[in-house]
Amino acid sequence: MIVLGIETTCDETAIAIVEDGRTIHANVIASQEDIHSKYGGVFPELACRRHIDIILPLINQALKEAELSRYDIDLIAVARGPGLMGALLIGLITAKTLSEAWDIPYVGVNHVEAHLYAAMMDHNPQLPAVGVVLSGGHTALLEIEQLGKYRLLGQTVDDAIGEAFDKVASLLGLPYPGGPEVEILAKSGHPDAFPLKAGTVKGRPLDFSFSGLKTNVLYQLKGQSGKRTDPDQLNTKEKADLAASFQKAAFSDVVSKTLLAANGRPIYLGGGVTANKNLRQLFADAKQDVHWPAPGLSLDNAAMIAGLGIHVYKAHGPDSLQLEAMPRCSIY
Ligand code: KG4
Ligand code: ZN
Repeated sequence: MIVLGIETTCDETAIAIVEDGRTIHANVIASQEDIHSKYGGVFPELACRRHIDIILPLINQALKEAELSRYDIDLIAVARGPGLMGALLIGLITAKTLSEAWDIPYVGVNHVEAHLYAAMMDHNPQLPAVGVVLSGGHTALLEIEQLGKYRLLGQTVDDAIGEAFDKVASLLGLPYPGGPEVEILAKSGHPDAFPLKAGTVKGRPLDFSFSGLKTNVLYQLKGQSGKRTDPDQLNTKEKADLAASFQKAAFSDVVSKTLLAANGRPIYLGGGVTANKNLRQLFADAKQDVHWPAPGLSLDNAAMIAGLGIHVYKAHGPDSLQLEAMPRCSIY
């Protein structure tokens, strides 16, 4: 079964063609960094306009790269949430329209579940396992009983980890999206230079808190008044040390809580932050059964949507035209 995947939850327009949940024939992503970097974050209205402009040309490009025609597509899978309402609607309306025009079924899938599926895409996962979602919008530990069945073990009580990376990057004067920039800067810094720690939540050992850590970075950078207008008190080398110390604090917290939750069970990670090589090294050092998304499948993409789509279709059948976008929705 050949599935066309559509992803427009936020600021990437992505289209993929995946066979039987596994074999990727095309995986095209149009980043909108050029638009949003000026604003230091995603500008929703501009994200929508770009999605509208490029979604159909991108579908043609994916078909061309896959050397397939629309008559080869058996199913359409679209991310129906969570995400930005306007952005979701563009993907969903495109999926519904093509489903009618091409006379093939379509299904809506959950974007966060798809991030987890990305690490399961190339093999039959050994379940139950522990899933870890580390993205710009989510930070959660889940028990994966089977595809489609999850139980929440812990989540962030404030910022998502990717959001914390983006905010720290902005404090350090680095462009958006900040995660990759912090990773690069941290390479030349000393991770023990600043005594930073992520937060803990009383009575909930598997919950996360990153907002205090972020504020601490601000204090180190601008002094105790912490005013963003105050001049930086650190030189370039010290800023690299601060980036490395922040990264270490955030990731050692993720690793220790994940190992506690997993208790020897396999671990599946997904979301943009899993592109970070330092994080992957820390888990490698822990010598556990850890699974990562393949290259190109950590950040938002449509291959994970198309891959998961076939499983959703087999379990629930096609969706109707009444299906609505869900800006907020969870899988647990
Ligand atoms: O999964 P994703 O593409 O979008 C959401 O669903 O949110 O994740 C984007 C997030 C951003 O916050 C970005 O800064 C972060 O992932 N990110 C990284 C890295 N690459 C992307 N964070 C740390 N290190 C990276 N290399
Ligand atoms: Zn995402």
